Amino acid sequence: MAARTALRRALRPVRSSAFTHSEQQLRFTRPFSTTLPSRAAPNTTNAPDYAVPDPSRPTHFGFETVTEGEKRERVAGVFTSVAESYDRMNDLMSFGWHRVWKDHFVASLNPGFSPLTAGPDPRGPQHILDIAGGTGDIAFRMLRTAHELNGNTDVRVTISDINRAMLTVGKQRAESLPASHQAALSFVEANAENLTQTRPLHAYPSAVEPTTHDAHGNSEQAFFDPATATGSIPSSSVDLYTVAFGIRNFSNIPAALREAHRVLKPGGVFACLEFSKATRFPVFNALYKEWSFRAIPLIGQLVAADRDSYQYLVESIERFPSQGEFRDMIVDAGFVVAGQGYEDLTGGVAAIHKGMKPRA
Ligand SMILES: C[S@@+](CC[C@H](N)C(=O)[O-])C[C@H]1O[C@@H](n2cnc3c(N)ncnc32)[C@H](O)[C@@H]1O
Repeated sequence: MAARTALRRALRPVRSSAFTHSEQQLRFTRPFSTTLPSRAAPNTTNAPDYAVPDPSRPTHFGFETVTEGEKRERVAGVFTSVAESYDRMNDLMSFGWHRVWKDHFVASLNPGFSPLTAGPDPRGPQHILDIAGGTGDIAFRMLRTAHELNGNTDVRVTISDINRAMLTVGKQRAESLPASHQAALSFVEANAENLTQTRPLHAYPSAVEPTTHDAHGNSEQAFFDPATATGSIPSSSVDLYTVAFGIRNFSNIPAALREAHRVLKPGGVFACLEFSKATRFPVFNALYKEWSFRAIPLIGQLVAADRDSYQYLVESIERFPSQGEFRDMIVDAGFVVAGQGYEDLTGGVAAIHKGMKPRA
């Protein structure tokens, strides 16, 4: 009974007004499924397994069709290019709303309290993996909530990203955090689609510099090269997996979801904050699209001298699946979801999706 209550708390479908954890949030529109859905059954046919990355398989980069391999390189180019202006641009493009969404996302996850994976004491050790963590916005909030609000200093956060430039900005920002938060943080380069190959970040002085040089003077690309991996994220080692505004940039989303499922402990939670569809409110949606497609590339051009990267960002939002479609992908990866599986923010401009890796 206690475990079931804890399960409900961890996966409750939070509502947009919620910065507190009211009893109302614990109600569900339908009960939990405690077994894996049949769609998660192993692939026993000869059909291609789309959750296995294939660099030559077609996918999309904004409105263009490219291969998975080409998308990875071009996305890396975008984030290398925007890394130093990324935080300022986020504020300008969203009128600061991204901060509210991120605060709410983190509050809804209540880091530092993990009743489903921590053993007898829900305030026990917790490992949070923030994938596509970029410049650290989610990870820093996680630590503040866990250490200061929940009083649990036994929480460590790994910020992982494919792009060294973004992580380097994050590492520089982390220098202004309290020493105890810095000690609980680690920065890791990895592709979310294959977390068996990682390496710790060796930051370089400027995020603008797209390449570094190895000991032999050979240039290295700014995004993670699996051939240089020195470590991995073990299976069933993570209590909470987060990804904010990252997953739509992945070349192979099912592969990343499968990896999320692998690295999470049974009872661990997958949580994603991403731009989504505001189609329930047609007038608002039309205004929002006008803003996105007209203003954002222009702001990118004026503020960051980079129109193309911001054009890609708005196109990638448009191409991302709807709330229901993405929820189905999460279920297909083997997660169980509560209620409808997601919460709309600001009329669906963004959405939070959550799923739990079943305990048995
Ligand atoms: C829009 S930023 C989000 C950063 C941060 N999570 C935030 O909310 O501010 C997207 C991030 O996804 C990262 N990314 C893109 N493809 C990735 C992949 N395959 N694996 C890991 N990270 C990836 C990019 O390098 C970039 O840092």
